[in-house]
Amino acid sequence: MALFDVYNQYPIELVSAKGMQLKDSKGSDYLDFYGGHAVISIGHTHQHYVNQLKSQIDAIGFYSNVIHNPLQEELAERINAKLEENYELFLCSSGAEANENALKLASFHTERSKILAFSNAFHGRTSAAVAATHNTRIQAPINKVHQVDFIDFNDVEALKKHLETKAYAAVIIECIQGVGGLDQPDTDFVKTLRDICTETGTVLIADEVQSGFSRTGRFFSFQHYNIIPDIISMAKGMGNGFPVGGIMIHESIKAEKGMLGTTFGGNYLACTAALSVMDVLEKEDLEQKAAALESVFRAKAAMLQVPAVVKGRGLMIGLEFGFNTAELRRNLLFQHGLFVGSASNPNVVRILPPLCCTERELNQLFEGLNQELKHE
Ligand SMILES: Cc1ncc(COP(=O)(O)O)c(C=O)c1O
Repeated sequence: MALFDVYNQYPIELVSAKGMQLKDSKGSDYLDFYGGHAVISIGHTHQHYVNQLKSQIDAIGFYSNVIHNPLQEELAERINAKLEENYELFLCSSGAEANENALKLASFHTERSKILAFSNAFHGRTSAAVAATHNTRIQAPINKVHQVDFIDFNDVEALKKHLETKAYAAVIIECIQGVGGLDQPDTDFVKTLRDICTETGTVLIADEVQSGFSRTGRFFSFQHYNIIPDIISMAKGMGNGFPVGGIMIHESIKAEKGMLGTTFGGNYLACTAALSVMDVLEKEDLEQKAAALESVFRAKAAMLQVPAVVKGRGLMIGLEFGFNTAELRRNLLFQHGLFVGSASNPNVVRILPPLCCTERELNQLFEGLNQELKHE
């Protein structure tokens, strides 16, 4: 084959999609409880999103950041309206790029070079982002030049020991871990983290690449913890499939010309995709719906044939079983037409549907799960 063979793939060719539904080239239908890895936020091919993108590309699709694009300002204002303090927006095109820029900016701002991250973290595959990812398998020797230390969630002593050296530019945290398997730190720990970052002049970066844009029942997952990060990284659900990412930078961090930059980031189509996602999230009250479906999910999970621990929040949720779930996930897909997600913890099934998911569709997921779990 002509493709560089790096992905484990299912032999499925998708040809169309609408809302939660996917159709393949053989005419089979699927329900999307994976959202193409938490990317589809407002639903596949949402009419408003499609119309906005079509009319934008008819007008102008791309120009670089050498000119002023008012859509970027509109987007900055719309995201700021979800936040308690003032932030400025820098746009890029993916989650790794967002974290790479966040870490670089923290280093410029503090003139320090160490990073503190957490066990099981995933922050992307670019240089500093992958160095802050707790997985040596995906780090090449070139990534190992970065000075990154990892501590466990809730280990206040280790946190203090590292940050009190005042050598760390940033702490980067997923307030709900995605790839790692939906673990969350305690609220007290996150508050202490915020305080120690302030005391030691360390930049606190909230990685909201997966958990942002209403997926957890709040616009950003750190809002469950009532903290104010210095930098917030975003991507995935922000564009509902259009490649767009960005960082929200607290106004206390000052910009200098040329310090960050990108060719594609913030182009007309990317901004239009993100703005139409914001329109639909608000118009259809999808954040509230994600929060409400979490309760439904928990009630149904409590009645499963086989006991499972519910992890995560809103529609960034999952089930941890006492066994490896690879076969279960495969059977859900091929026997029941249900796409679900995996995690680096093989016992976890991750559920990351578009936020337009309904209770009826959740019922179909649990019917499939219960039928498969009969055999366990
Ligand atoms: C929390 C988190 N950060 C960063 C990334 C990297 O995003 P991307 O694949 O768009 O580079 C991911 C991707 O799964 C993620 O889950």
